[in-house]
Amino acid sequence: MSDFKRTLITSALPYANGPVHIGHLAGVYVPADIYARYLRLKGEEVLFIGGSDEHGVPITLKAKKEGTTPQAIVDKYHGMIKDSFEKFGISFDVYSRTSAKVHHETASEIFKTIYDKGGFTEQTTEQFFDEEANQFLADRYITGTCPKCGFEKAYGDQCESCGTSLNATDLINPKSMLSGNVPVMKETKHWYLPLDQYEPWLKEWILEGHREWKPNVYGQCKSWIDGGLNPRAVTRDLDWGIPVPVAGADGKVLYVWFDAPIGYISATKELTPEWEKYWKDPETRLLHFIGKDNIVFHCIIFPVILKAEGSYILPDNVPANEFLNLEGDKISTSRNWAVWLHEYLEEFPGKEDVLKYTLTANAPETKDNDFTWKDFQSRNNSELVAILGNFVNRVLVLTNKYYGGVVPVAGKLELRDEEALATLVQLKSDIEKALDTFHFREALRLTMEMARLGNKYLADMEPWILVKTDPERVKTILHICLQITANLTIAFEPFLPYTMNKLRFFLNLEKLQWSELGRRDLLVAGDTVNTPELLFEKIEDDAIQRQVDKLLATKKSNELEQATLAPAKSHIEYDDFAKMDIRTGTIVAAEKVAKTKKLMKLTINTGIDQRTVVSGIAEHYEPEQVIGQRVSILVNLAPKNLKGIESQGMILMAESKEGRLVFVVPGEEINDGAEIK
Ligand code: MF3
Ligand code: ZN
Repeated sequence: MSDFKRTLITSALPYANGPVHIGHLAGVYVPADIYARYLRLKGEEVLFIGGSDEHGVPITLKAKKEGTTPQAIVDKYHGMIKDSFEKFGISFDVYSRTSAKVHHETASEIFKTIYDKGGFTEQTTEQFFDEEANQFLADRYITGTCPKCGFEKAYGDQCESCGTSLNATDLINPKSMLSGNVPVMKETKHWYLPLDQYEPWLKEWILEGHREWKPNVYGQCKSWIDGGLNPRAVTRDLDWGIPVPVAGADGKVLYVWFDAPIGYISATKELTPEWEKYWKDPETRLLHFIGKDNIVFHCIIFPVILKAEGSYILPDNVPANEFLNLEGDKISTSRNWAVWLHEYLEEFPGKEDVLKYTLTANAPETKDNDFTWKDFQSRNNSELVAILGNFVNRVLVLTNKYYGGVVPVAGKLELRDEEALATLVQLKSDIEKALDTFHFREALRLTMEMARLGNKYLADMEPWILVKTDPERVKTILHICLQITANLTIAFEPFLPYTMNKLRFFLNLEKLQWSELGRRDLLVAGDTVNTPELLFEKIEDDAIQRQVDKLLATKKSNELEQATLAPAKSHIEYDDFAKMDIRTGTIVAAEKVAKTKKLMKLTINTGIDQRTVVSGIAEHYEPEQVIGQRVSILVNLAPKNLKGIESQGMILMAESKEGRLVFVVPGEEINDGAEIK
């Protein structure tokens, strides 16, 4: 750190094709935020950059799925993401977006500079083309089998199963995401970044020069470089993105992974006219916080872009995390298997810090980790409430009770007092070491040790007993407890910012600097404190059960979706179909069939006659709900005796993916007895 004057922290720009979930938070935004807050607390010059990634195939695919334009998609999700980050308390200095004008200009300029220097190679190659959609199939427009691990749903740019970064033409059995067709090959011209030419430099810069990078990051880089690098196309045949800013490139845009990381630069420009100080001065330390699927883009491709351009600094470190799973399953946007930040904020108002705490305590720093609601509850109840909250509350309540809220004078310190205060200093240095090396879990554990220390000291000293026999001694004990509490406001500030705000208010303290952590005179005798409220509330079982149930419902609906995707039945002849006499009708009377759960006896006007049908809908509807309901009824089904009632036909029902039964009826009013054919 000593060689640097300032730090520029970037956090991966989330795709604006969906809301942010706990996986994003645990992997990227929470650790980046902790680090930014820590450096600010140390009085260092720091910028924390965020923004939305608004180009690329994920956006256009989402637009297609929702029947709208890519711009409408990114407007919607950018707004939503930005808003939930703000409420959650991710302390970006700027949150920008890659559809911004300044970004289009910046990315175009960088491309132009490299182009003018002859930094790209131009190649005409055969690429996958969907003849039905009349479109080239780049990146996520194509799926197929991963040549590395055999995963059958790998994308044209990456396999999400093994993490390998791919070229579309590497895929086995490629298929178009647009039409499902097998694509044809068609010639097209593109610009390539000659990564192969940078191999010696990358070896020196990363493999020799950055042995300190996290093992997961260093290891991925090494296996990439050792495997040999190929030129990589940085343009695409698409109509959504930044137009390639050179002649003869109509209908082509910059590859999303070319423009997106440049978004960090554009966002800095948007924030400050002094942006060059952050990007071009070697005294700036550049850090990229990302998830493991982004490693190659941030450690190899983006640095090569910056190096090729020539005037930018390179990352000093890339503290990438592994993945967070949810209740034992991979988080998945398409399967809705996630805890969404905007929903959490609504369902647990005022508990932003609890989620930050849980995600940090369980961060996937060295391996994939699992988030469970049970763990969330127990972290809250047995750590935040029982240790931190309990200690602070007892100290403040006793200070109010014994001294009317005035900090008492300390007498002569005993060995145990000295020990407690010395431990604060030791913990400070341990926490620093952990934070400086991006070990946020460990840093949080050590910070919690500080609260544990206070809790234990208080329990051992038992001032509530001693107060009857040695009130002078109690003054010293509470004085020390208050100093520990004041220290907590500094140590926890990077992790629990909303809560520490509250705690400072209880103590009438200003925000203190990190350097003051460990001091034993943060409060002085005669200072006053306020009556506290609880810092944390217990989370009850029913709140957790609601979340678990919600996930179970998701699981069930996913399974049903799978089930309704059952293969089509085999062919029948028209004559078979024509044998069925299906009519429109109306239910005119209904009653439950006694001693059954499912059956309802319906009287139906079929146009031809009124007849009785016994139907299995009683678990889904009340009789009074269905009287007057229009139905489709198979009238020539052979009559059948059900529970002593003759059923003369069958009404048609469809089952929703949640397992609800719905009546199948013509879209418009039509007379009873009309034939359905
Ligand atoms: N949108 C990408 C993702 O979610 C991350 C982009 S990071 C950036 O995986 F550097 F390119 F911006
Ligand atoms: Zn794979």
